[in-house]
Amino acid sequence: MARRRPASVHLCASAALLIVAFSSLTHSAGAYDPLDPNGNITIKWDVIQWTPDGYVAVVSLYNYQQYRHIQAPGWKLGWVWEKKEIIWAMTGGQATEQGDCSKFKSNIPHCCKKDPEVVDLLPGTPYNTQIANCCKGGVLTAWAQDPENAVASFQISVGQAGTTNRTVKVPKKFTLKAPGPGYTCGPAKFVKPTKFISQDGRRSTQAHTTWNVTCTYSQFVAQRSPTCCVSLSSFYNDTIVNCPTCSCGCQNNSTAPGSCVEGNSPYLASVVNDPNNKNNLAPLVQCTSHMCPIRVHWHVKVNYKEYWRVKITVSNFNYRMNYSQWNLVAQHPNFDNLTTIFSFSYKSLNPYGLISEHLALQITLWSLGTFELALLIPILFQALTFALLQTTLLCYGASSTTTIC
Ligand SMILES: *[C@@H]1O[C@H](CO)[C@@H](O)[C@H](O)[C@H]1NC(C)=O
Ligand SMILES: *[C@@H]1O[C@H](CO)[C@@H](O)[C@H](O)[C@H]1NC(C)=O
Ligand SMILES: *[C@@H]1O[C@H](CO)[C@@H](O)[C@H](O)[C@H]1NC(C)=O
Ligand SMILES: *[C@@H]1O[C@H](CO)[C@@H](O)[C@H](O)[C@H]1NC(C)=O
Ligand SMILES: *[C@@H]1O[C@H](CO)[C@@H](O)[C@H](O)[C@H]1NC(C)=O
Ligand SMILES: *[C@@H]1O[C@H](CO)[C@@H](O)[C@H](O)[C@H]1NC(C)=O
Ligand SMILES: *[C@@H]1O[C@H](CO)[C@@H](O)[C@H](O)[C@H]1NC(C)=O
Ligand SMILES: *[C@@H]1O[C@H](CO)[C@@H](O)[C@H](O)[C@H]1NC(C)=O
Repeated sequence: MARRRPASVHLCASAALLIVAFSSLTHSAGAYDPLDPNGNITIKWDVIQWTPDGYVAVVSLYNYQQYRHIQAPGWKLGWVWEKKEIIWAMTGGQATEQGDCSKFKSNIPHCCKKDPEVVDLLPGTPYNTQIANCCKGGVLTAWAQDPENAVASFQISVGQAGTTNRTVKVPKKFTLKAPGPGYTCGPAKFVKPTKFISQDGRRSTQAHTTWNVTCTYSQFVAQRSPTCCVSLSSFYNDTIVNCPTCSCGCQNNSTAPGSCVEGNSPYLASVVNDPNNKNNLAPLVQCTSHMCPIRVHWHVKVNYKEYWRVKITVSNFNYRMNYSQWNLVAQHPNFDNLTTIFSFSYKSLNPYGLISEHLALQITLWSLGTFELALLIPILFQALTFALLQTTLLCYGASSTTTIC
C-alpha cells in the first residue's frame, strides 16, 4: 500500500472505514465487544468470618470494562439462595425488599427473600453503616477512566447457611442491572482465597473462602434496536449524510403512537415531570427521522497529507437522560497509538436537558497514513466534568453502504 496517497483518496478511505468499523459491530453476536474484548464486571465474595449459623462476607464488584461505566441510578445485584439462607445484616449496601420474615420473633433479619436484590447506599450515609468502597449510589467509573472508583463493596452477614468452606453453598443465578438490562452473569466459581495485605505490608491475612462471578455486557441483551447512529459531513461537499432513517426504530403513528415527542409539544413537560416516570429508564426520544437517543455527527474539517481534523458533535435526543460523565469511543484505522495526538474542547450548547443537549468535541488526529486494519485501536476521550454516554456510544446501525465518497 502506498504510504502517501492523494488527500481525497485518503479521506475517502477514512470515511468509509469509519463506517465499516462501526457497522461491523452490528454483526457481532453475544456478549463480545470488539473494542473491549475482556471487558467484564467481576463480583467477588470473600467469606471473612464464620458465624454460629452462617458467615460474614465482603462482596465486591470490579468494573473491569475499559469505557463502559455504571451511571445513576446505579447497579443492582441479585441472586437466588441455594438453601434457606437469610441476610441478618448488611453494611455499605441494602436489600431492596425485606420479604417475608414473619417466622422470626425477636431478631428480625434484614432480608428473608429467596432472591434478594442489593443496591448501594447513597453518598453521605452515616459512618457506622459504611465500609470501604461503598456508598457511591451505585455509580462506578470505567476501569480505563478511574480504576479507584471502579470498585464497589458491601458486607453481608448470612444466616441459615453453611459454616465451613465445605458446607457453604454459593448463591446461584446472579443478575446485574447496571442500570437496566444488558449484563449476563455466569455461575459462581471457587477461586483462590483473597489475601489481604496489612497497611504496612508486613502481614497478610486471607479470606476463609472466595468465589467469583463474571458478568459481561451485551448490547443485544440491553436493547434490540441500536441506541445511537452516526451522520457525516465534510468541508468539500455540502451534502450531509444523515443517520439512516429508522436507525433506532421507527416512528409509526398507527402502531406506536407516542413513541416519540415533538420538541415543542405541551405534552412534553407533562411526561418529563410525571413523578410516575422518575425511575423509567426507557428513552423518551424527540421525534427525528432516525429516532435515536444519541446522534454522533462526524464532520471532516480539513484534510492534509499529514493529518486530518474532524469535529464530532454528540447530540442527546432523550428527554429522560442527562449525561454528566461520558466517554466517546471511536475506532478508526488512522488512530495510531504512538502518533495520535488529540486534544479536545467541549461545550454544552444547551445545559438544560429539556431541549436536546449538544456537545461538540473537536479532535485533531495525526495520521501516518497507514490503513492497516490491524492498527485499529479504541481511543478514549474522557471529559470528567461531563458524565457518560457509555451505554450509547458504540454505534450500531450505520449503513455500510453509506459513504461520502
Ligand atoms: C475480566 O476482566 C479482567 C480484567 O480485564 C480479566 O483479567 C479477566 O480475565 C476477565 N474475566 C473473564 C472471565 O473474562
Ligand atoms: C476473582 O476476582 C478477583 C477480583 O476481581 C480477581 O483479582 C481474581 O483474579 C479473580 N480470580 C479468578 C480465578 O478469576
Ligand atoms: C477449604 O479449606 C481447606 C483447608 O482449611 C482448604 O484446603 C481448601 O482449599 C478450602 N476450600 C475452598 C474452596 O476454599
Ligand atoms: C406503520 O404501521 C403500519 C401497520 O403495521 C404499516 O402498514 C405501515 O407501513 C407503517 N409505516 C411506516 C412508516 O413504517
Ligand atoms: C402523528 O400523529 C400526530 C397527531 O396524532 C400528527 O400531528 C402527526 O402529523 C402524525 N405524524 C405522522 C408521521 O403521521
Ligand atoms: C436534567 O437536568 C435538568 C436541568 O438541571 C433538569 O431540569 C432535568 O430534570 C434533568 N432531567 C433528568 C431526566 O434528570
Ligand atoms: C502500540 O504500539 C506498540 C508498538 O507499535 C505495540 O507494541 C502495542 O501493542 C500497541 N498498543 C496497542 C494498544 O495497540
Ligand atoms: C457530494 O456528495 C453527494 C452524496 O454522496 C454526491 O452525490 C455528490 O456528487 C457530491 N458532490 C460533489 C461536488 O462531490
